[in-house]
Amino acid sequence: MNTLELKRHVDIDYGTPAREAATMVTLEIDDRSVTVPAGTSVMRASVEAGIPIPKLCATDSLEAFGSCRVCLVEIEGRRGYPASCTTPVEAGMKVHTQTPKLADIRRGMVELYISDHPLDCLTCAANGNCELQDVAGQVGLREVRYGYDGENHLVAEKDESNPYFTYDPSKCIVCNRCVRACEETQGTFALTIDGRGFASRVAAGQNEDFMDSECVSCGACVQACPTATLTEKTVIMMGQATRSEITTCAYCGVGCGFKAEMQGDKVVRMVPWKDGKANHGHSCVKGRFAWGYATHQDRILKPMIRKKITDPWREVSWEEAIGYAASEFRRIQQEHGRDAIGGITSSRCTNEETYLVQKLVRAAFGNNNVDTCARVCHSPTGYGLKQTLGESAGTQTFDSVMKADVIMVIGANPVAAHPVFASQMKRRLRQGAKLIVVDPRTTDMVRGAHYEADYHLKLKPGTNVAIISALAHVIVTEGLVNEAFVAGRCDAQSFSDWKAFVSRPENSPEAMAVVTGVPAELIRDAARLYATGGNAAIYYGLGVTEHAQGSTMVMGIANLAMATGNIGREGVGVNPLRGQNNVQGSCDMGSFPHELPGYRHISDATTRALFESAWGVSLNAEPGLRIPNMFEAALDGSFRGLYCQGEDIVQSDPNTQHVAEALSSMECIVVQDLFLNETAKYAHVFLPGSSFLEKDGTFTNAERRISRVRKVMPAKGGYADWEVTQLLANALGYPMHYAHPSDIMDEIARLTPTFHGVSFDKLDRLGSVQWPCNEHAPDGTPIMHIDEFVRGKGRFIITQYIATDEKVTQRYPLILTTGRILSQYNVGAQTRRTENVRWHSEDRLEIHPHDAEERGIHDGDWVGIESRSGQTVLRATITENVQPGVVYTTFHFPESGANVITTDNSDWATNCPEYKVTAVQVMPVTQPSEWQQQYERFNREQLELARVDS
Ligand code: SF4
Ligand code: SF4
Ligand code: SF4
Ligand code: FES
Repeated sequence: MNTLELKRHVDIDYGTPAREAATMVTLEIDDRSVTVPAGTSVMRASVEAGIPIPKLCATDSLEAFGSCRVCLVEIEGRRGYPASCTTPVEAGMKVHTQTPKLADIRRGMVELYISDHPLDCLTCAANGNCELQDVAGQVGLREVRYGYDGENHLVAEKDESNPYFTYDPSKCIVCNRCVRACEETQGTFALTIDGRGFASRVAAGQNEDFMDSECVSCGACVQACPTATLTEKTVIMMGQATRSEITTCAYCGVGCGFKAEMQGDKVVRMVPWKDGKANHGHSCVKGRFAWGYATHQDRILKPMIRKKITDPWREVSWEEAIGYAASEFRRIQQEHGRDAIGGITSSRCTNEETYLVQKLVRAAFGNNNVDTCARVCHSPTGYGLKQTLGESAGTQTFDSVMKADVIMVIGANPVAAHPVFASQMKRRLRQGAKLIVVDPRTTDMVRGAHYEADYHLKLKPGTNVAIISALAHVIVTEGLVNEAFVAGRCDAQSFSDWKAFVSRPENSPEAMAVVTGVPAELIRDAARLYATGGNAAIYYGLGVTEHAQGSTMVMGIANLAMATGNIGREGVGVNPLRGQNNVQGSCDMGSFPHELPGYRHISDATTRALFESAWGVSLNAEPGLRIPNMFEAALDGSFRGLYCQGEDIVQSDPNTQHVAEALSSMECIVVQDLFLNETAKYAHVFLPGSSFLEKDGTFTNAERRISRVRKVMPAKGGYADWEVTQLLANALGYPMHYAHPSDIMDEIARLTPTFHGVSFDKLDRLGSVQWPCNEHAPDGTPIMHIDEFVRGKGRFIITQYIATDEKVTQRYPLILTTGRILSQYNVGAQTRRTENVRWHSEDRLEIHPHDAEERGIHDGDWVGIESRSGQTVLRATITENVQPGVVYTTFHFPESGANVITTDNSDWATNCPEYKVTAVQVMPVTQPSEWQQQYERFNREQLELARVDS
């Protein structure tokens, strides 16, 4: 179906959540027989039988509450009128949902609600999408006998503080759905019902405005509200949508499914998709609300070119821009050799687009100089998991966490970076799962509403490997190894070598306590819990990978999971929390210089032959340049042209001055992006990019789940990103003639064994699939390594702790580590152009009170942060979340220059930068750093040059 045709996805609300049970129960509802799992409510059974029952306080995302009394039914042999939402089914039950008495009672209940409700239905934002209105219609309410003159809430004041939704208490029916959504779905517990009886009302925090409360603006309450009390401001402004399309969030690696609700080609609102298997109808503030960047005035919609970066940009036709880029690339290759150019794929673009860019580099450029942002985030995951388990990806589904008894979170803060998964994890913690957090900071994961870590190993940054070896030491020396699993599933020699290594006294918690700063007993207790607490699952993030020993740590994690048998079933596993929406996909698609799609090494002659025959070219067997090598080669003059799609290397890569210098020395940089990002300021050709709303394709999330991205509006610049790459390939003389991204996926599936069974048709049918999806697993693979590891026997690898070269000294006595915040996303190009800046409008430096006092720093002061690489200035926040000796900042704003201070140190195996450890000094200052002053000047000049003449 053409995606722009009118269609609406209407979800059925079953009233109460589905139950899983071994026993099925058959009953009769209005003379219809229905069979459901034991524990199902009468309400849900009735909807499943096709007999909806009026309801107000029930919705199937929340446990039944039984307060509105609208859903009453009659059950033969029972007295009274039980609420169908709170009554479980019983075998042989005979239920009547429509009797004159029930009609009377329901009408009476709804009449009471309406008597304290504004009668402005025609002008209400929820008109046409209001459950109260629907129920009044269903029960046949025709008059309100009590009148509207008595005491009521009709003039209650609105709370407009949240930029995305309004709270209008005059419309509230106190059904408690919002309160339960905040507790059960989101896990924030920001809402309560304040007061009693008639005086009761919904209150955020301690009776504060939403913005002043703990509310994180996830929108679950808005979605749950059956009236217009909590309503998106866009709906108030624009009215109800007329069509909708299912798509996937373009922010983080959770990959939430969304229903884009549209009027024409304008988004009215994004509603988390109930059937989305990664999010089950939930979302965070970014995916649900922060989509305004897609139509922001800063977007550049016309191609532009210039000879030098000091020239003004000139708007040109697509033909001219593509022609110019192609001729420059060919000229550079003629003058400086085939390897003098390369490309960078984007983890924000679709699989199909990423595949095309690496194909363009390999087939049209004729080299393997292609890399991706995973170089700077999860490349150690790819390397470490491949070496140990045989596959470069996480082992589980997100849902698997609901079967975990022990959850170990290492170097990750899912509450900020993977919020929807964090909500699920917190639900499991509230059910009683144990929690171990390994993190130098006291993050939101350590303590929150109704959960607290059993053990927080607050280690010194840079000592992960010491901790993992010490944990392994306890498991091995205290006899906690799962011998049967190891004997049956793992390589015996590697296990015995590893066992001997970790058993050494120098790897004991006592010895490592000196290095890590974590008391030995805490490490011992955490190890015992992980090994003996039932299903134990590890979740980790960039706090593991972005280190000089990132790959070593990933292998250490895999060792631990294998040694304890915590792999190959639900509730366990090794789970990298991938950052960007499609970083898994961009790696799968062959974005690394040494790998063809499906992680097959470029030196493998058979794989190369397969691609050579499909692509009609001969491929270079030598791996190409990684991003840092591209910079080096640029500086030595051998690398002069770059095609950079949807990636802002100037802001996101370490040692900004070095990157800027490398780019300044190049002759043709082609940037394809939505905005004139930091990298584009060094570019010679700008090609307008397309947002996720403007194209078809697929994203692959952190659980290997491939989901559809669907076009809901035409590409604003004229072409989707994959079409632009195709134009460029053709202009370079390499033919590409795909009619639709599904053709590209068909080619990927043909050439990649783990994708053999993937097609757009299948994704449309199943909603999503997790790779491997092929002849052996036609509907995908939720859990990996079930009977054997992908590589056969699991391989233990020795993880010798080596202290980073980045040493603290008298001159640089503090360690700077970095991370993210919920409301902003990576380089911030998207979220900075939304109301999300209301939560976080600048990056700040967190510093411990002790370190602040020593330096005479007060909260909010400007402080200079100086490393061996450079200096920047931020405002200070004094907090005990960081330990003495450690400072922390986010990196969402270019002017912060967080990467001006990060160094060139990187992971030994993959070159992933060591962002998490930089030795710095911090001191009070009164003016921006020299770099910041320079940046401001350069930025101003570049923006001036972009005020284009055509
Ligand atoms: S938006 Fe989310 S966090 Fe805020 S009150 Fe609603 S459910 Fe709670
Ligand atoms: S705000 Fe909405 S969901 Fe919350 S109690 Fe009122 S009507 Fe119910
Ligand atoms: S959790 Fe991630 S994928 Fe889901 S809505 Fe938020 S940013 Fe989007
Ligand atoms: S829907 Fe059952 S009591 Fe409200």
